[in-house]
Amino acid sequence: MAKPRSFNDRLFALRLDRSRNDLFGMLERLYGHRPDYPRFAETLTEALKEAWDARPERLKWRDMQRDLEPDWFQRPEMNGYVFYIDRFAGNLAGVAEKLDYLQDLGITYVHFMPCLKPRPGDSDGGYSVMDYTQVNPALGTMDELEAVTAACHERGISVCIDLVLNHTAKEHDWAQKARAGDEGYRDFYLMFVDDTLPKAYESALVEIFPANAPGNFTHYDDIDRWVWTTFNEHQWDLNWGNPQVFLEMVKVMLFLANKGLDILRLDAPAFLWKRMGTRCQSEPEVHMLLHALRAASRIAAPSVIHLEEAIVSPAEMLPYLGRGPHDGKEGNLAYHNSLMVQFWSALAARDTTLMTHVMRTHFPPSVTNATYATYLRCHDDIGWAVTDEDAGAVGVSGFGHRSFLSDFYEGSFAGSFSRGALFQVNEATGDKRISGSTASLAGLEKALDEGDAEGIDHAVDRILMGHALIASYGGIPLLYMGDELALLNDYSYMQVPEHAHDSRWVHRPMMDWERAARLPDGGSTPEGRVFDGIGHILARRAAVPGFHGAVATEVLDTGQPGLFAFARRAPTGSIICVFNFTETWTGLPASWFAAQGATVMQDLLSDSPVAGPGGSVALPPYARIWVA
Ligand code: GLC
Repeated sequence: MAKPRSFNDRLFALRLDRSRNDLFGMLERLYGHRPDYPRFAETLTEALKEAWDARPERLKWRDMQRDLEPDWFQRPEMNGYVFYIDRFAGNLAGVAEKLDYLQDLGITYVHFMPCLKPRPGDSDGGYSVMDYTQVNPALGTMDELEAVTAACHERGISVCIDLVLNHTAKEHDWAQKARAGDEGYRDFYLMFVDDTLPKAYESALVEIFPANAPGNFTHYDDIDRWVWTTFNEHQWDLNWGNPQVFLEMVKVMLFLANKGLDILRLDAPAFLWKRMGTRCQSEPEVHMLLHALRAASRIAAPSVIHLEEAIVSPAEMLPYLGRGPHDGKEGNLAYHNSLMVQFWSALAARDTTLMTHVMRTHFPPSVTNATYATYLRCHDDIGWAVTDEDAGAVGVSGFGHRSFLSDFYEGSFAGSFSRGALFQVNEATGDKRISGSTASLAGLEKALDEGDAEGIDHAVDRILMGHALIASYGGIPLLYMGDELALLNDYSYMQVPEHAHDSRWVHRPMMDWERAARLPDGGSTPEGRVFDGIGHILARRAAVPGFHGAVATEVLDTGQPGLFAFARRAPTGSIICVFNFTETWTGLPASWFAAQGATVMQDLLSDSPVAGPGGSVALPPYARIWVA
């Protein structure tokens, strides 16, 4: 490269220097043995510089701001909202009109669910992308995405979109070329001339969609090749062992970053690297790739952060936030799948022993330059990521507990409060996952049907307790569209041919704007109470500096299996958060809170004193308190 001259060039050189080792240190380990490595490294550097040169000044300013405030995404005012553009507002132009609603709710982060051009027909909810440089025409244009993103920025809202790294649609240009016989593009995918290797790999792989997309490979007669298809047949896994795939994806990533997007949700990264004899999930190379991708963003689009979607077991999850050599350098955000699973598990069991064990054993009090994306529900099913070891450690059978949870949330377990739908029952392993909306899983659907007033109260309180939990544990709480209105399961998906096979659509309803218009209603309906309660929780969270993502979270023992508790150890004092997972009244001595570090004995959530000195703190059914 020529000697840097302009301010712009010098700034790029500075940014490249800052992250050079992170980028090339990883890439050398991944690809350094290849004869084409030096050429690849050069081309990549050029691509970074080109993206930097193309980056609008407005975004370079944002880069600078975030360099000065690198903790922006860890701050307590970060509150997320996740939605499908069409289901929320019809299209991108419609989203622009709903920003008041989001702002009133206290939202500072929006995730537009897959919005890049999907393949026609079933596209796995948009996760089968055929063109990363175009917006789904049904939703709008790239210019509109850029405009709505800029409008969000004006209101202090950051924008997240999905970047599907593991696969493209088989209709993607690269896949089309591969199919037409172009050897260069064949090497973008994992193709096999016969089934010897696929069979050998398959023996250690798990099936993601066993019920409707069994196996991990698909044979195409026209090219007489087996193609690696972890998810659906139309989603072709990319070959990340080929540096050209890395290069092309970096270009895509920076192209999107230059549209103003703030957070890239890296979809299904666990699957990026394949190794014979393993499950081909979370291999060490995956973390090298993610470290290198983060470095690429940091060089050419420094205000952009990465959210990693690794829905894996507790011990496997943490590395996505960067462990060992990747500490502070991998995902800025990762879904806290375990907190979500443990919330539902403890709610069904009325027992937090397993939750306390898992949260304490697998998650350190804090992570570097990163934080969690906490959530109760999302567009996907719930897989019961409870290992046999963790279950065994608290004296329950892993398989038994996982089966119990599916039966409970499906509603078939006697006495269950829930209504849900099974997802991807695996006859061979007995594994079954669950779909359903927060409100239906928490008991509202059943209680409303049965006119059970107490059941309704409990359901509302479960929903609010869950939101108070994800708002205080540490990380950005992600509110899933419609949960603030307590939307129930939507069974109409069964009438849609492209969706009928996929029960996840039961919790992907249309936004109910009529219901939203009736709220707030002074808490006279269950949805009114949920709406007020969630808005209140998000507002209170934003006002508590101790909920900053960098503040340590220490899981506590209360001596009561129905309670889950943790302390946020802020420099200004501890906040003791307690949640009652049962429908029974209980209490804790005020002295217990004092011993954990509470000083004011004030509940920051209700903003009222919790008990007099020496007294006891009452914990009603599904209580949630944040005691300072
Ligand atoms: C992610 C998405 C899920 C999709 C899968 C394959 O897990 O959240 O909806 O089916 O990736 O792209």
